[in-house]
Amino acid sequence: MKNLDLIATAAELMAGDKGLLAMDESTTSINNRFKKIGLPPTVDYRRAYRELIVTTPGLGHHLSGAILSDETVYQSTREGISFLEVLTAAGVMPGIKVDEGTVNLAGFPNESMTRGLDTLRGRLAKYRGLGLRFAKWRAVIRIGTDIPSKGCIDANMLDLARYAALCQEAAMVPIVEPEVLMDGNHSMERCFEVTEKVLQELFRQLMEQRVDLHGMLLKPNMILPGVASAQKVGIADVADATLECLLKHVPGTVPGIAFLSGGQSPALATTHLDAMHAVDNLPWALTFSFSRAIQQPALEYWNGKEEHVEVAQQLLYDRIGLNALARQGKYEPGME
Ligand code: 13P
Repeated sequence: MKNLDLIATAAELMAGDKGLLAMDESTTSINNRFKKIGLPPTVDYRRAYRELIVTTPGLGHHLSGAILSDETVYQSTREGISFLEVLTAAGVMPGIKVDEGTVNLAGFPNESMTRGLDTLRGRLAKYRGLGLRFAKWRAVIRIGTDIPSKGCIDANMLDLARYAALCQEAAMVPIVEPEVLMDGNHSMERCFEVTEKVLQELFRQLMEQRVDLHGMLLKPNMILPGVASAQKVGIADVADATLECLLKHVPGTVPGIAFLSGGQSPALATTHLDAMHAVDNLPWALTFSFSRAIQQPALEYWNGKEEHVEVAQQLLYDRIGLNALARQGKYEPGME
């Protein structure tokens, strides 16, 4: 029965035109985003900002799930209603980021490893006890001179697979996120080559660790040139390369793929998602699980001001709605 529950949860997260919102930034990451717009990096501002997100009217219209950080799981609205309760009442399934960030990988300069596996079983039991039904873990792969190494890819993909197995043991759907970063001046072809190596090793390890592919979701990067690359690519080039890479390496038994945005502008991430839906009969459902590409306009407009909350919520709602249209191939840049 456990696997049937996992399959049902995964299907719920991928349902209809919906997608996910990643609001699981570590305290350091969200503080950095606050500092960039001149906001104090305090727990009160973090709570107020997350209250703005979770109380957005109609949040569940186009959102199936929201990925939270540990801090957010225990936070409440000003009136004292827990965010978990607010999200659930809005029809948005709350989930939890369970990795503990990255550290340098010993012996591999400029490469990293994700922390948190040792304590994961206990933490998953605690979160499952709070009613959370899915989790996320991010492995980071950087492209540069002579990197990524095979040692880095293998170690990170093994840990992703161990994480996924532990989630399924705890009756939680693992969102498996192997992020090949956009940082750097590499070409789109190089991103393709690295992403395919990563996905190949990931699925080898997932199967070796006996993860049920029906009861997991994949959260990959799109295939893009590095941010510092001079290469010019079109929307269709990105959509085609991304689909080609995923079709080659992601088994059709995986029920869904939900992209990260990786530093693309909100409009570009949406446009790329839309272009991928020009293709019919994909083996998996394909949606969004963006953080920056959904939150950024709302965060910047809000800027800590109570009187800006309503419009910021509208910006958030609109951004999610545009991605829901993209998921059906019905988005037009003119809708921005
Ligand atoms: P971005 O959409 O900002 O890349 O974030 C997605 C995410 O969940 C990173 O772990």
